[in-house]
Amino acid sequence: MKKIIIALITLAFTSTSSIAAPKIEVLHWWTSGGEAAALKVLKDDFAANGGEWLDMPVTGGGGDAANVALKARIVAGDPPSASQIKGPTIQEYDQEGVVAPYNIDEVAKSEGWDNLLDPMIAAIHKCENNSGPYCAAPVNIHRIDWMWANKAVFDANGISVPTTWDELNAAAEKLQAAGIIPFAHGGQAWQDATVFEAVAMGLGGNNYYKNCYVDLKENCLRSETTVKVFDQMRKLQGFTDEGSPGRDWNVATGMVIEGKAGFQIMGDWAKGEFTAAGKVPGVDYYCAATPSNNGYLYNVDSFIFYKSSDPDKQAGQKLLAKLMMGKNFQKVFNLYKGSIPARLDVSMDEFDKCAKTSNADIKTAGAKGGLVPSFAHGMAQGNTMKAALQDIITEHFNSDMSSVDAANALADSVLANM
Ligand code: BGC
Repeated sequence: MKKIIIALITLAFTSTSSIAAPKIEVLHWWTSGGEAAALKVLKDDFAANGGEWLDMPVTGGGGDAANVALKARIVAGDPPSASQIKGPTIQEYDQEGVVAPYNIDEVAKSEGWDNLLDPMIAAIHKCENNSGPYCAAPVNIHRIDWMWANKAVFDANGISVPTTWDELNAAAEKLQAAGIIPFAHGGQAWQDATVFEAVAMGLGGNNYYKNCYVDLKENCLRSETTVKVFDQMRKLQGFTDEGSPGRDWNVATGMVIEGKAGFQIMGDWAKGEFTAAGKVPGVDYYCAATPSNNGYLYNVDSFIFYKSSDPDKQAGQKLLAKLMMGKNFQKVFNLYKGSIPARLDVSMDEFDKCAKTSNADIKTAGAKGGLVPSFAHGMAQGNTMKAALQDIITEHFNSDMSSVDAANALADSVLANM
């Protein structure tokens, strides 16, 4: 009898230890206060489900530095188990043969992702040219074309939220005359491109944006409209302060939060900073879409999962994918992150007015032809073409290059990278 009991105990231990223990290494660029608070929701969920999380943060915002770090890991044959990644780059990595759809698609099928996501968003996350198995999971939808303004600063200077670019320029001039930094901006290439695409969609219109920055048409890039977009960028540059070059985006947001500057043009991850600082929209700050004709520049944060033969990592990937698409997770995470849920069935009741505006505007933009992918955040182009556009935009912003030269350089840069 004693022998049988010992044998049973031994068997129990052996089988327990052969069950995979979920482990994950996640490469991401969520290092600001708001971003880290949002990511913590996921880390906590993962730990609560018995998972072990190895964090691989890459500072820098916008993902440029993170993408370089990721590429280096992949080239070295040592990819993380999951990484933050965007739109068309998912397909690029799939074509390189490093992405692991097998177990993610299983999760997607059993959780019914096809019924939970808009078909356009779902397709971004399917490998084999957007129509094969799921190999990535979306956590949110960020909007790029936002203006964040300090309410007290605007009110004290008799400024209301601008609805045209001329009004925005007039507001900035008024602040400047009052000795206040109008435009809080961090001078990094991706931040310049973020502002540029909001100006391009707003001033040029939705079709101009699609022709130039989605379809990369040469005559569009060289057009008078592109010249006007660069003119507006030059105006905005005149509204920044001397400390702008190299500044991180969240430091610029901090200037608006503290009333040291009037406004920032940035995606709604900036709202995560206001939230982390305990600020309330409509009370402490204004959130308003930058002027456009029902435009909405979208940016989806996704994670892809890389091939691994380690059963613990495979179990970790499955668990992470399942948690990321969880209904409650998508609510809580996005309350911190500033974005709106990618899942269509999450109630917006607990979200603030900025998120509710985003949720309403994305539908209107979809119906009116204004829903366009952000190129500055890798939704419209892969990393190479994004860099080709971004390099010229930042060169113009940080020099005295004329708008005509910039428009031609933009077209040349795109052609050289086709
Ligand atoms: C990402 C956001 C992130 C922002 C700043 C964007 O590309 O989509 O999630 O907060 O960069 O780092």
